Amino acid sequence: MVTREGKASQSIQELLTPPETPSTPHSDSKLVHIWPEPETEPEEISIEHQDKYASKFPSDTACNNFNVTHQEVLLLYGPKQKYIYSREHPIPNLQNDREMLIAVHAVGLNPIDWKAPDFGFGLPALPCISGRDFAGKVVMTARKDSRFKVGDLVMAVSTDYRDSRKAAYQQYSVVSDFNACRIPDNIATTEAAPLGVAFVAAALALGICFGVDFTSTSSRASGPDLLHMVRSLSRESLPKDIIAECFDGITEDERPEPGEWIAIWGGSSATGRCAVQLAKLAGFKVIAIIDVARSGERMLDYGADLLVDRIDTERAISIVQGVTKGRLRFGFNAHGRETAKLLTKAMHGKDGKRAHLVGLTGLPKEAIDGIVYHSVPIKCFHEAPQVGEALMIWLEQLLEQNVLSTLDIEVAPGGLEGINAALDRLRDGLIDAKTHRV
Ligand SMILES: NC(=O)c1ccc[n+]([C@@H]2O[C@H](COP(=O)([O-])OP(=O)(O)OC[C@H]3O[C@@H](n4cnc5c(N)ncnc54)[C@H](OP(=O)(O)O)[C@@H]3O)[C@@H](O)[C@H]2O)c1
Repeated sequence: MVTREGKASQSIQELLTPPETPSTPHSDSKLVHIWPEPETEPEEISIEHQDKYASKFPSDTACNNFNVTHQEVLLLYGPKQKYIYSREHPIPNLQNDREMLIAVHAVGLNPIDWKAPDFGFGLPALPCISGRDFAGKVVMTARKDSRFKVGDLVMAVSTDYRDSRKAAYQQYSVVSDFNACRIPDNIATTEAAPLGVAFVAAALALGICFGVDFTSTSSRASGPDLLHMVRSLSRESLPKDIIAECFDGITEDERPEPGEWIAIWGGSSATGRCAVQLAKLAGFKVIAIIDVARSGERMLDYGADLLVDRIDTERAISIVQGVTKGRLRFGFNAHGRETAKLLTKAMHGKDGKRAHLVGLTGLPKEAIDGIVYHSVPIKCFHEAPQVGEALMIWLEQLLEQNVLSTLDIEVAPGGLEGINAALDRLRDGLIDAKTHRV
């Protein structure tokens, strides 16, 4: 979160701003990378971790049949390099009793998977394993009273990019139980894999940055009041860089009332799609600024109240200004800094309440009085177990009850070794908003 009074350095945000996406042929599916190939899925056998990577919790684990010690992974050795396939990497260990080991079946790709190596940011100690979204089967749980058991199918959201144990590009990955969601029977593993980061980012942006209260949604799947939840924690329990966003970003009386407008620039991106659906669920009027010809029909399915074509950006912002009478209080930008700046042209505080802009990939350089600038406090998800678990249990209900639509998917060929090619397509804009996951 950045305010006019305390504007943070934008260098990382600058790097996050994606290059222009070249126009591409329309594709109607989302890319999912099945991995490992079904026939290579390992047999479950007896527990026997003997090397330094062994679990600290062998006697207390709920898994009795797992003794695989090595696996195939993709390693990144440096910026601007491809991921390198390796066959003999140790299985990651469990380090506390909230962690589980997952046999990865499908991996979801995110823009950050190519941006981090290309631009050299957000990289932990190298070599590292990447990948933030995956789905698979629980093969080991560290505690017997876990809400998961061995054999459960789960999707996992790995926002903790510094921890390679939790990355997706490997055969077995670790996830904290509060960052995993059981996959209901009506959802395929491949549909679940690419949804996690997008859902978490959208829910935190709306719930914490804007203070949207999901407890009284119109459906049976009501969700958490994330702002109250996070503010019930001590400031010291959160990482320093998200304290201001979580505790000081918005005042109680500035939280949105159902019926207010929320404009989502990039509503057809994965995160935008989740945001449109969650905002509608919470009773808001949603403006989706998108390529209407390409994604308009889907946005109408999600219940968007107004579709604005993004191709002529000045015209787009005039429409938003006209419809909201220049008094838009909530702007959600899933594209770059330029569109964030454009959105502010339609934004204004009202009745003494400030306006709030959240930027997923950059914020304007110059702040405007009366507008609060927010960044998604994504670390809440893995650093505050209450927040992570509340989101995952809610997601489970939303999916089970068909309240939240999954993304359109495209399955990429080639197993783990096909990920570089799939990322190239994502980078080159050959997979559009509906298709870019692997
Ligand atoms: N800060 C965080 O924690 C966080 C979390 C998640 C994602 N992100 C970032 O948020 C961004 C979106 O991620 P995502 O996974 O949701 O993206 P995505 O699914 O890959 O969506 C990209 C879509 O944006 C739309 N787009 C392209 N050019 C545009 C433009 N000039 N103006 C408006 N929209 C444009 C396109 O859809 P149409 O052509 O249909 O309009 C495109 O398909 C990425 O940059 C990602 O790195 C940040």
